[in-house]
Amino acid sequence: MGFLSVLSFAHKLIMDRVHPGDIAIDATAGTGADTLLLAQRAGRSGQVYALDIQDEALRLTQERLDRASLTNLAQVSLLLGSHADMKTLIPEHEHGQVSAVMFNLGYLPADIADKRVITETDSTLIALETAIGLLRPGGVVTIVLYPGHAGGEREAAAVESWTASLPSSSVQTVMYRGLQRSEAPYLIAIERKKT
Ligand SMILES: C[S@@+](CC[C@H](N)C(=O)[O-])C[C@H]1O[C@@H](n2cnc3c(N)ncnc32)[C@H](O)[C@@H]1O
Repeated sequence: MGFLSVLSFAHKLIMDRVHPGDIAIDATAGTGADTLLLAQRAGRSGQVYALDIQDEALRLTQERLDRASLTNLAQVSLLLGSHADMKTLIPEHEHGQVSAVMFNLGYLPADIADKRVITETDSTLIALETAIGLLRPGGVVTIVLYPGHAGGEREAAAVESWTASLPSSSVQTVMYRGLQRSEAPYLIAIERKKT
């Protein structure tokens, strides 16, 4: 039967934790696959924020949402900007209320995309720190890392060591990784403890 793929495992963590009426964030909208999942889970009464630094990504995300033509999606706000600025982009009264923040690092996976535009270690770490502060108790941050492209290996190593340094009194962390191909994508997840 095989193990779940890294993306499926991330989606499973999200499906277990995002419920109708929830607030969730896609911190790297890209082509919108994660945004759509969050919008489906949060439902009509929910709110999803999708961030990206590229207009093209937000256009592709809107296209995916339109194509899905589902009536029960959450309100989705597409925000052009860096996830490092999440704290100011997300309304203050929702801080501490967010059920999930998804990161899928690397470059926009689209034919016409400029693959030199990638997530950068420094802003990624700022965004991750901010994301934890936005979570509700029991909320989760998922991060899919891509050590296989230029710059990706350094970013993945930095995220891994930053995650390992988080206090176990306030968060729990896990890694989901195949061990035979060091360049294959893998997942880190961080859950804010309930007490
Ligand atoms: C691997 S893609 C995301 C894939 C997406 N989850 C999907 O379903 O297609 C990474 C995205 O992060 C975006 N990105 C890079 N730096 C960013 C930043 N500082 N803030 C927000 N998005 C950023 C890129 O423009 C790119 O679209």
